[in-house]
Amino acid sequence: MTTRLHRICLTSDLLDDQSREIFVEGLVIAVFRNEGKLFAMDGMCMHQGGPIARGKVESGCVTCPWHGWQYELNSGNNAATGKPMLNTYPIRDHEGWIEIEIPTQSCV
Ligand code: FES
Repeated sequence: MTTRLHRICLTSDLLDDQSREIFVEGLVIAVFRNEGKLFAMDGMCMHQGGPIARGKVESGCVTCPWHGWQYELNSGNNAATGKPMLNTYPIRDHEGWIEIEIPTQSCV
């Protein structure tokens, strides 16, 4: 799989306990900084498309603001069942920028 690194914002634009919704490579992605660590996952809830980036983060999980489904930040799994639900993406803080690695669409 081919991936591409994207600078999504300045480090100072995503402080601890903050989140953002970004649009990159045709995807909606929710990014979080929680307890100093960065996380990135699909930004639309698997239930009815709620905005994950606007969810409350607690104990390593984010709660969808619409009906309360919960996802683990580090895996995107459903917090109640452990079932894989949302894709997660490599994200890092590098030289003053937050960067995310996204699979690219390839033509055959
Ligand atoms: S849309 Fe997220 S819980 Fe319903």
